[in-house]
Amino acid sequence: MAAKKGRVFSGARPTGRQHLGNYLGAIRNYVALQEAYDCIYCIVDLHALTTLKDTDHLREWTYEMALDWLAAGIEPDRGTILFVQSHVPQVTELHTILSMVTPLGWLTRLPTFKEKVRQHPDNVNYGLVGYPVLMAADITLYKANTVPVGVDQASHLEFTREIVRRFNHHFGEVLVEPQAQYTDFPKVLGIDGRRKMSKSLDNHIEIAASPEEIERRVMQMVTDPARRYRSDPGRPEVCNVFTLHRFFSPDQVAQIEEDCRAAEIGCVECKRLFARNLADYFAPFRQRRAALAADPDRVWEILADGARRASAIASEVIAEVKEAVGLPSAR
Ligand code: TRP
Repeated sequence: MAAKKGRVFSGARPTGRQHLGNYLGAIRNYVALQEAYDCIYCIVDLHALTTLKDTDHLREWTYEMALDWLAAGIEPDRGTILFVQSHVPQVTELHTILSMVTPLGWLTRLPTFKEKVRQHPDNVNYGLVGYPVLMAADITLYKANTVPVGVDQASHLEFTREIVRRFNHHFGEVLVEPQAQYTDFPKVLGIDGRRKMSKSLDNHIEIAASPEEIERRVMQMVTDPARRYRSDPGRPEVCNVFTLHRFFSPDQVAQIEEDCRAAEIGCVECKRLFARNLADYFAPFRQRRAALAADPDRVWEILADGARRASAIASEVIAEVKEAVGLPSAR
């Protein structure tokens, strides 16, 4: 096998069954990166604790997410490490050490932090302030040089790079400064056609949905709001369905665009076509998912194995870090 370009690390909070936004914005990219990089993918359950009021769903959502990722083509058999953040507790050690070189102002000035404070003014906990420090620990614990993320994570990635520079300046060249690799797909809107697709807004379409469920959700999608009558010409450039056709209907998209502008195709017909293509695209995925779901213990075993492999790397790096900062080793 050709030498790999380096190590990728990325993580996502356990949100359960994945939707089209997760797939187009992250998972698809995670799968592709396995060709050229050694990849480590992490379900960041500790990060989820910073905002989840009730944590009853953490186990179930971790499992469902792992199922989706595996069925979508994350392949531990080909070297990729897939694991659950809390299964490798060295990350909390590194988090503590990095927190000592983190000026508090860097954290409280971050736009992501201010946004969370606006959303949950009654729950501004210490862990929430430290969210980016934990993320920096995730990445640096594995000396990853490439981090695929959405642009919404840009400030966190920049923070990580600054912390690495600061740490290395004080303690020597130990940590690796990672590069962000931003995903190219345009923002995926929900079925409301207005807001970003998200489970919490219930405007999402699950990639594991049955063809019937896909059809039901797709038919609810909002298209060009100015196109009131079937005879009105449509504007594909403002239509979320059209954006998705680009990906899921590559052979038909040029014709759809032309027909929409000429009012030769109506939104109902256009959405039916989209629903069918979407269901076809994910048919092999649904099959693999069903096979995996037949043996849930096996999925947890894959995650446990991932944690063992992640832990082997993490233990070496944490030892190096402790030595660099001057902590006395135990005998
Ligand atoms: N903060 C990221 C998000 O909300 C999730 C995350 C945690 C992450 N640790 C990471 C992403 C490490 C990339 C690398 O989406």
